[in-house]
Amino acid sequence: MSCSRLQLTLAILKPDVTARPHIVKEIKSMILRKKFYFVESKKMKLAQSEIETFYKEHEGKFFHNRLVNFMNSGSIWAHILAREDCIKEWRKLMGPTKVLKTVFEEPNSIRGKFGLTDTRNCTHGSDSEETAKREIKLFFPEFDEEKWRANDEDYFI
Ligand code: PPS
Repeated sequence: MSCSRLQLTLAILKPDVTARPHIVKEIKSMILRKKFYFVESKKMKLAQSEIETFYKEHEGKFFHNRLVNFMNSGSIWAHILAREDCIKEWRKLMGPTKVLKTVFEEPNSIRGKFGLTDTRNCTHGSDSEETAKREIKLFFPEFDEEKWRANDEDYFI
């Protein structure tokens, strides 16, 4: 296995999940079963201003305040995940945003199993390589992707 073949994504476990530690454990097992690597992980409480920066593109939408308040309501887990086709595969494992659709169409996805509402929907995933780079920088400013890729043999022992 070489890091050069792997794509990275930012994956977040939202406050509805971190409030239920047994579900955190279950989701991390689901992630490993689908052959993702955990490259970096941190549990953190975001500041209001960080949440607003993160969700800037949704400013003005009817759910923006609800989303920001929810993300401000507790801690999150932020992860850098690696895999081939990581962005697509992580979004597939998350399931669709809307919980009702998810429960009927993707009941074995994370949101299908544990999602509570369209707001309390467990997870976030970057939607493109460009977004992933930006979001990883925001949450893991110290992460050096080039160095990580250069050290692939050390990483996969
Ligand atoms: S959009 O309008 O198509 O861009 O929205 P979408 O990509 O589906 O979702 C963007 C993020 O907003 C969250 N969302 C909501 N939050 C609260 N209430 C409602 N109704 C709602 N609809 C969407 C959704 O979970 C997405 O958050 P992230 O963290 O990106 O998954």
